Amino acid sequence: MKRVFSGFRPTGKQHIGNYLGTIQNCISLQDEYDCIYCVVDIHALTTLESIESLREDIYEMVLDWLAAGIDPQKSILFVQSHVPQVMELHTLFSMVTPLSWLLRVPTFKEKVKMQPHNVNYGLVGYPVLMTADIALYKGEIVPVGEDQLPHLELAREIVRRFNSLYGFVFPEPQAKLTSFPLILGLDGIQKMSKSYNNYIEIAASPQEILERVMTAFTDPARRYRSDSGHPDICNIFCLHKFFTPARVDEIASECRRAGIGCVECKKMLAESISSTLEPFREKRAILASKPNYITEVLADGANRAEAIAKETIREVKEKMRLLQRVQLEHIRD
Ligand code: TRP
Repeated sequence: MKRVFSGFRPTGKQHIGNYLGTIQNCISLQDEYDCIYCVVDIHALTTLESIESLREDIYEMVLDWLAAGIDPQKSILFVQSHVPQVMELHTLFSMVTPLSWLLRVPTFKEKVKMQPHNVNYGLVGYPVLMTADIALYKGEIVPVGEDQLPHLELAREIVRRFNSLYGFVFPEPQAKLTSFPLILGLDGIQKMSKSYNNYIEIAASPQEILERVMTAFTDPARRYRSDSGHPDICNIFCLHKFFTPARVDEIASECRRAGIGCVECKKMLAESISSTLEPFREKRAILASKPNYITEVLADGANRAEAIAKETIREVKEKMRLLQRVQLEHIRD
């Protein structure tokens, strides 16, 4: 079975944009591939202004992922820093990565503009650490969003260079783009994101969902209840496609002929979202009430991941002619 690897920044409670764009995809890959999913806490430190909420963000995110259907029996789910071999491989890869490759990465240039006060060494090495993430587990398929394609290109170049300098160890990882369209936030302008406060959380209560949906922007050309609407440009309608699939045609035609108003349409959407998320809310509550459940899942994930990581590091050191460390008791045998 081919191996899937992907990493996710710890962003705390997940929203329906994360679910439709990323989590759902990761869930469906579980049946076809050997999947490893990693919460990249070290990567998060390259840009974090405050570490205040880091632990809570990891916990809440993992809880949502498990509640939504990531199965820790099928997949390995773990926290990046729990398997420290990734930092070892990162250092070794840094010796085969020309600095010029890193300086031209678009996300690096963007970050330099966004945080000129914090252009740290780790930020330049971000794609090297990402390559180490994937390569440590010999990941071949990497589900990511389009913004990560330059990183994946670089990952291929780094492993190719390693393989040609030291001998073949790593398969070249391929990006697998998620086929879901961009999920816009409730403002109908920006993509759904924590930073724009335009999201609905997976764990939101029916009341919260309703309140949030009510604040959403709809078709701006529809100013009066009697105006006919344009579902194709309405963000609420776009969400109906995902959450009310059986009734989209009816909703579209009712909107066009002003048969339903935006308020009614939003109430319907809030109900569909709420009923879709209900099983997640229930499972989340059950998992959250089990003491140490998340800690145990992550410890088990880290153990399984580390077994693979140790083997890869052994192979890498062999190829790089580093002297293997031998335990004293073995020497005396
Ligand atoms: N850079 C990715 C992001 O910001 C996260 C990430 C870290 C990742 N390591 C990875 C993604 C390895 C895929 C594979 O979304």
